[in-house]
Amino acid sequence: MNIQRMTIALYPGTFDPVTKGHLDVLSRACSLFDEVVVAVSEGNSSKDTLFDASERVRLVEENLKIHKNATVSSFSGLLVDYALEKGASVVIRGLRAVSDFEYEFQMAQMNRHLDSSIETIFLMPNEKYFYTSSQLIKQVHLFGKRETDLVPQNVLSALREINRFDRGKDHS
Ligand code: PNS
Repeated sequence: MNIQRMTIALYPGTFDPVTKGHLDVLSRACSLFDEVVVAVSEGNSSKDTLFDASERVRLVEENLKIHKNATVSSFSGLLVDYALEKGASVVIRGLRAVSDFEYEFQMAQMNRHLDSSIETIFLMPNEKYFYTSSQLIKQVHLFGKRETDLVPQNVLSALREINRFDRGKDHS
């Protein structure tokens, strides 16, 4: 009997909001693993994020239709505990420029310290997304009132809506 083990990967982040860089990393993960669970961090307080956790989940979810093996949910608490709850043995993180490395390295080491059975795997997005970050997107769209094509259509609409009501002042 040939019993194959499914490999479930967790792709965690704040996703405030999800960008095309995130979606590029997600596509790569979906082609490597049996199942990918996008895990949206609820964070400590909704005041820290532009979009609340349920909006961030929705903005990701609307972009998952092209992937048969991806789902999204939100989590609070420790990432390793959520990975265990989901049966994930891999944590995916996107790595762009070298400047990401220090923070990612610390986080991966801490997660390994907490649970050595969970492996962190770094995936590089296409180089056209190397400088895409949710933080910069918010500055460009909300502070600069300019638009970029670095976010999916539903995020673009959500950012336009925030600008229309001038809701984003504190988050750019
Ligand atoms: O997109 P981000 O903001 O870089 O994602 C960071 C995130 C949510 C993956 C990280 O803050 C996290 O894992 N938070 C859960 C708390 C935790 O497990 N901390 C210990 C690992 S260092």
